[in-house]
Amino acid sequence: MSQLVDPFGREITYVRVSVTDRCDFRCVYCMAEDMTFLPKREILSLEELDRLCSTLVRLGVDKLRLTGGEPLVRRNIMWLIERLSRHLDSGDLRELTLTTNASQLEKHAHRLRELGVERVNVSFDSLDREKFKAITRWGNYDKVMRGLEAAKDAGLHVKLNTVALKGVNDDEFETLMHWAHEQGWDITFIEVMPLGDVGESRLEQFYPLSMLRGELAKKYTLSDIPYKTGGPARYVQVAETGGRVGFITPMTHNFCESCNRVRVDCVGTMHMCLGQEDSADLRTPLRQSDDDGPLIDAIHEAIARKPKGHDFVIDRRHQRPAVSRHMSVTGG
Ligand code: GTP
Ligand code: 5AD
Ligand code: SF4
Repeated sequence: MSQLVDPFGREITYVRVSVTDRCDFRCVYCMAEDMTFLPKREILSLEELDRLCSTLVRLGVDKLRLTGGEPLVRRNIMWLIERLSRHLDSGDLRELTLTTNASQLEKHAHRLRELGVERVNVSFDSLDREKFKAITRWGNYDKVMRGLEAAKDAGLHVKLNTVALKGVNDDEFETLMHWAHEQGWDITFIEVMPLGDVGESRLEQFYPLSMLRGELAKKYTLSDIPYKTGGPARYVQVAETGGRVGFITPMTHNFCESCNRVRVDCVGTMHMCLGQEDSADLRTPLRQSDDDGPLIDAIHEAIARKPKGHDFVIDRRHQRPAVSRHMSVTGG
């Protein structure tokens, strides 16, 4: 039982830790092309991140996901993963994992698997080179393909994350599903969320996933399955391909009631809800003293302020982002 329970009785067992706000891509739904990044001195050191994560594990968090920006562009990130893997060995941590764009996986996949990482979630929105470039702006398609291949070789279980973008990749969903399933991977489709100003209209980007589910159901035999990863996706099994498809539907089917997670960004700010501005400074207590007491108090105080949920809306009257922070600050 986690010691972290919010005012709505939700137990917090999953923490997403953004280890850097930087990324080698500039996905159109995530970042603006011209981003200002945080100065290095503000960013938690790897030792501080280890101490923070380890304290969270002590308080009952059993799933840690490293995110970014792109987590694998942080210098010496493997040192942190190695340190955190001790909690897998002790059995205190059930899962240590990452969400990545795969550009650096070729270098790191084998070591990740050795350290006890079993699954990685890979952001991947198009098999078409031109579209891939248009969506990621700076992404290197071949490097990503090599990274995915390396993950497969290393025995990492891959889940592809595809953000559904109207008029951009909506003609490819089925192709992506087939391709993922042929590789033995899961694929999750995600509704775009209005976080940060990305210089594009969210209304124009938004594709409701109920539509995709309807389209797939016309051609395939879909059955709801109780596959639980601790994340927000609801999965179906596709009889014809033998694979799983997940749907993450913050816009059309809110899942806040069962929320089990909070986020910490790379400067040590806890964000208690992806869709709200509420936050708590954990860097001050972390840097103030070697005693973990003040840090633990600050974590409890933050969880006690976790909002009930987000209130994302995308329509003509709501053209402003729901929160000003970009997705890359919290890594989703
Ligand atoms: P699994 O461990 O495989 O279940 O992963 P996950 O879905 O928890 O993590 P991933 O990094 O793959 O996130 C997929 C998408 O889900 C991202 O776009 C996240 O922003 C979104 N997501 C995760 N948690 C929440 C949440 O609490 N609220 C909202 N609105 N979206 C979330
Ligand atoms: N809406 C929905 N998903 C997003 N992601 C990044 N920005 C957004 C957004 N605005 C996804 C990425 C990544 C995951 C962590 O979040 O594709 O897979
Ligand atoms: Fe980078 Fe991921 Fe954001 Fe794309 S979605 S710009 S890969 S952090």
